[in-house]
Amino acid sequence: MRDQFEPRDLILGVPSIDHSHEALLEELAQLAEVPDQEFARCYLSLVATLERDFREEERLMEGIDLPSAQLHCEHHARMLGGLHHVASRVMEGKVDAGREAIQLLPQWMVFHISTLDKALAHALRAGKAPQGRKTDDDADVKDRAKEAVRAA
Ligand SMILES: [Fe+2]
Repeated sequence: MRDQFEPRDLILGVPSIDHSHEALLEELAQLAEVPDQEFARCYLSLVATLERDFREEERLMEGIDLPSAQLHCEHHARMLGGLHHVASRVMEGKVDAGREAIQLLPQWMVFHISTLDKALAHALRAGKAPQGRKTDDDADVKDRAKEAVRAA
């Protein structure tokens, strides 16, 4: 699973976020290997990890002026909505639905981290951007992320 990631896309230079991503990738790799009888428990654990990580990023966004913040939160919500929908099927014993969902997650993560999380990290590293000032990164990220949300 890790061979789907280019490390340069995932390291954002904010240790708390980078650590969360690393731990999430580890948990995702482990989930792909668990036997069916353990899958539901581990799947729910992964969803809980994502919920916690997303909440933390959203908390970080509250303290800065980030033009892509709303879109970023929407991206989180869409992913969690999909994972929760699949969770109900997994709990009914449909493990294949969960395995299919987690196979799609790495690609989503690469895109999300390399666009929206990157913009957040940039803002955090730079300090609070002045109100109304947008960087080229922000504009590019918003355009690319809107396309991805529409395609999801
Ligand atoms: Fe994020």
